[in-house]
Amino acid sequence: MNITLRVWRQKSRDDEGRMVTYEISDVSPDMSFLEMLDVLNERLTLRDEEPVAFDHDCREGICGACGVVIDGVAHGPETTTTCQLHMRSFSDGDVITVEPWRAKAFPVVKDLVVDRSAFDRIIQSGGYVSAPTGTAPDAHATPVPKSDADRAFDAATCIGCGACVAACPNASGMLFTAAKAAHLGSLPQGQPEREARVIQMVNQHDEEEFGGCTNIGECAAVCPKGIPLDTISDLNRDLLGALASGSE
Ligand code: SF4
Ligand code: FES
Repeated sequence: MNITLRVWRQKSRDDEGRMVTYEISDVSPDMSFLEMLDVLNERLTLRDEEPVAFDHDCREGICGACGVVIDGVAHGPETTTTCQLHMRSFSDGDVITVEPWRAKAFPVVKDLVVDRSAFDRIIQSGGYVSAPTGTAPDAHATPVPKSDADRAFDAATCIGCGACVAACPNASGMLFTAAKAAHLGSLPQGQPEREARVIQMVNQHDEEEFGGCTNIGECAAVCPKGIPLDTISDLNRDLLGALASGSE
């Protein structure tokens, strides 16, 4: 395949940034999107040009590092991570536009790389339990109803990629925050901090200058892990309960 790439190039956080066009020939449909960017970078390097900076780690859809906006959609045309998107999802001759996540809380570091440490700070604010650690307890020591275990597990699949923020017109991080709160709040071990957790995480979310949720649903539509929109309803219910009970 021969494709034309329009890529956002930005030297640093304070640089204005601009789109730059590259023609790439001989792209295999079996390449992942990141492998296609590797090919571009190899060719740029051979021409003594600066390679395009993009974030990645596992390349298996589990670390959440590789998010970019492709043709206006977070992670591109398939509901998966960018590393799991393949060039067969495009056609020979396509013009493909690649941009970083656009959100005030995710400042651009360079080219397609953004700083997602705001997510880390949300997790730090409440994403823990005070259950004593030590030797592993017997697996049946704390019975967990199957439906609760499933809910916690589904929420725990959130990889912190940030696609939900990139897709949201308000740049809200509520789907991520709700997933992290639901993960621990669904389990017996997470109950002692449940009220404080939800208040602290939502406060941190707002401090990081993510926008508010107005139930548009773009977040859930692009989430590569299928975190459902009603996770946010559960978060709001927990938050109202916590505030009503006077928790801080
Ligand atoms: S909720 Fe989904 S889209 Fe948002 S950070 Fe988690 S995995 Fe990514
Ligand atoms: S590189 Fe880890 S999810 Fe894509």
